[in-house]
Amino acid sequence: MKGFDNIFQGRSVLACKDFTPAELNYMVNFGLHLKDLKKNNIPHRYLEGKNIALLFEKTSTRTRSAFVVASHDLGANPEYMDSTGTQFGKKESVEDTAKVLGSMFDGIEFRGYKQTTAEGLAEFAGVPVWNGLTDEWHPTQMLADFMTVKEKFGHLKGLTLAFVGDGRNNMANSLLVAGTMLGVNVHIVAPAELHPTQEVRDIAESFAKQTGAKFLITDDIAEGVKGANVIYTDVWVSMGESNWEERVHLLRPYQVNMDLMKMTGTPDDDLIFMHCLPAFHDTNTTYGQEIFEKYGLKDMEVTDEVFRSKYAWQFTEAENRMHSIKAMMAVTLGNLYIPASAVNGCTGGCGCSCKD
Ligand code: CP
Ligand code: NVA
Repeated sequence: MKGFDNIFQGRSVLACKDFTPAELNYMVNFGLHLKDLKKNNIPHRYLEGKNIALLFEKTSTRTRSAFVVASHDLGANPEYMDSTGTQFGKKESVEDTAKVLGSMFDGIEFRGYKQTTAEGLAEFAGVPVWNGLTDEWHPTQMLADFMTVKEKFGHLKGLTLAFVGDGRNNMANSLLVAGTMLGVNVHIVAPAELHPTQEVRDIAESFAKQTGAKFLITDDIAEGVKGANVIYTDVWVSMGESNWEERVHLLRPYQVNMDLMKMTGTPDDDLIFMHCLPAFHDTNTTYGQEIFEKYGLKDMEVTDEVFRSKYAWQFTEAENRMHSIKAMMAVTLGNLYIPASAVNGCTGGCGCSCKD
């Protein structure tokens, strides 16, 4: 063994597609392992003394909190920076910002608009860059989401996840690709105007061929949710967008309610509801109140009834953001012993889900 043997060390996490299915699966499993350690008060300070920059162009509750708590648990020091408090974007380019932050910090989280910004930071920083959400992809959410699905069902392969809503946003893109990478059948259920791009479908297609997963893009709700184990939805209008009128009109029929949950035909024990959050499930938010006044809708993408039902797993999912982000930071920055054989050479006896 040389200085270290870790196939993740020093790598950025910009999108799931940049990893192999086995590598993605490894990170999901490592998140479950670190959750176990935390629940049993077993220290795991793999990043002792490291400094982590958290650079946000868009707002966040979960991602920001997860990176902060994960950093502390790993022994690292996080520093939050937003676009109003730095020179980034207005007075300083992506390249120059990356060089400066990379000279002081050991890893950089970035949340913002363009995927090319995350890529630019990764190109010039010289340290791992972790994508905390862009308009196109939300890879750290995928680690938490499939960790949550595995926590509930004990395996991933062969399950069916139906995403109902805006089929072209960062969440739909990410679930379609990460799901097919992990052997989960993914259905995108959305009006034709909001179906995924051909580029994203092509990526999913290439992974589906490798893993045997199947995917379906449809505007037919009954067809799309039939047999689903996971009903997943997201906001109708994502950060950076403002087209409420169009989205309310297009997506109102796609609201996740109890009738839609029943349309799956799946037995209760084999069915869960997930949402990356934040969610519009009542009128207790500024936007929720405005939409109620304008369109008479008390809830948008999911009814309060489903959100508070026995199917709801969105808060376990939110907690898992922390454990999975911790796993990702640890494997890419912690000099852990992770030889390729531990990730790709799995023969199915290790308890992981590669051969499930
Ligand atoms: N799911 C998610 O990314 O939440 P935040 O926007 O609060 O980070
Ligand atoms: N699609 C949503 C996801 C939030 C976690 C957004 O980009 O606003």
